[in-house]
Amino acid sequence: MSTGPAVRRPSDWDAERLRGLAAEFDTPLYVLDPDRVRENARRLRDAFPDADISYAVKANTTRPVLETVRDAGVGAECASAGEVQRALDAGFAGADVRYTAVNPPARDLDHVVSLSREHDLVVTVGAADTLDQLAERDYDGRLCIRANPGVGAGHHEKVSTGAAPKFGVPADRVPALAERAVDRGFDLVGLHAHAGSGISGDDLDAHRELVVRMADIAERVADVTSLDFVNVGGGFGVPYRPDESPLDLDAVADATRAAFGDTDAALGIEPGRYFVADAGVLLTTVNTVKETPETTVVGVDAGMTTLIRPAMYGSYHETVSLAPDAADREEITATVAGPICETADVLGEDRALPAPEPGDRLAVGTAGAYGYEMSSQYNSRPRPAVVAYDGSDARLATRRERLADLTRLEEQWSE
Ligand code: LLP
Repeated sequence: MSTGPAVRRPSDWDAERLRGLAAEFDTPLYVLDPDRVRENARRLRDAFPDADISYAVKANTTRPVLETVRDAGVGAECASAGEVQRALDAGFAGADVRYTAVNPPARDLDHVVSLSREHDLVVTVGAADTLDQLAERDYDGRLCIRANPGVGAGHHEKVSTGAAPKFGVPADRVPALAERAVDRGFDLVGLHAHAGSGISGDDLDAHRELVVRMADIAERVADVTSLDFVNVGGGFGVPYRPDESPLDLDAVADATRAAFGDTDAALGIEPGRYFVADAGVLLTTVNTVKETPETTVVGVDAGMTTLIRPAMYGSYHETVSLAPDAADREEITATVAGPICETADVLGEDRALPAPEPGDRLAVGTAGAYGYEMSSQYNSRPRPAVVAYDGSDARLATRRERLADLTRLEEQWSE
């Protein structure tokens, strides 16, 4: 099976087909290509042939994505009871589902423990008292301990987790907690850590260091019990800017294997973004074009409620015009802004675009990861629709919310 190019840029999508999808399904619209998800899964498998690979479903839980990664033989890493439920509903075998409990609400533990009676899940704890709470619920399934290895990385400080005290048990306390877990009868099968999200070639040293530290903890825990796996997390970055080159996955895999050494457990990885980021584009329509002394403001119908990454992390998403005559238009420099009443609601600044006109469609690239997933109804904006598009056929995966959906959960208040 083909692994396709190392990255798919927004201009690699068929502009005419995208215009057709925008006309058929309206905008803002997320378009996801399951074939590209499959290629990304294949590329990961080729680079890490022996690893236990999971997909961090938080990157995109829409059904075509979940089913595609499931069919690719990949497990599901879940951050909440809701994600565990959705992974199981999408047909992941319970044995392939991992729940990484970050400061877990009691309701999540109740739900996951009840699911564990029927499904052989793995629950990963990142704090000693989560262990007590699992014991209170008579959890007797597989257990994993998340370590805080003290080394983080990522595209932004807000997504660097490896050294953040919120995540995981401080590395030097893991062996004692492992001993306690085993003494209490838990079936301890693995260790886990995650450096952060959006690791680039520059972060390779941090990644290597994390793996070295995990291998070291694993060796110490091996005195207590034998482990099935040591999961070193996800975080593999993708290029968002046109001049950024793709991550050298083989180099990451080589560094990982070398650092893992002869650790007597399977190596686990759990990327999210890498599976889906370039398998998605966001289509949007130009509402207004306004000349100002500073710049031309191109107002579009997608904003921070549709794709929050630029507002939240200052992330760059390459944006291209889908206008049929784009090549004939004069190029201008523009700010692409959304319809939300917030200054942060800007999708891109200083963007070179063929002079946009109201009604034009634009494609915002590399929007398959943490796009729809982080969308909201702020400003009472219904969430967009999602279609799965395999290069020829398109099928609605998630319908567009309507105004009525905004108040769907409200109780009758005054007469
Ligand atoms: N494993 C754990 C425990 C995680 O917390 C995460 C992401 C992953 C795996 C997957 O990381 P990935 O391979 O997707 O980088 N909203 C941010 C990213 C937040 C990631 C949170 N955790 C963004 O849009 O960049």
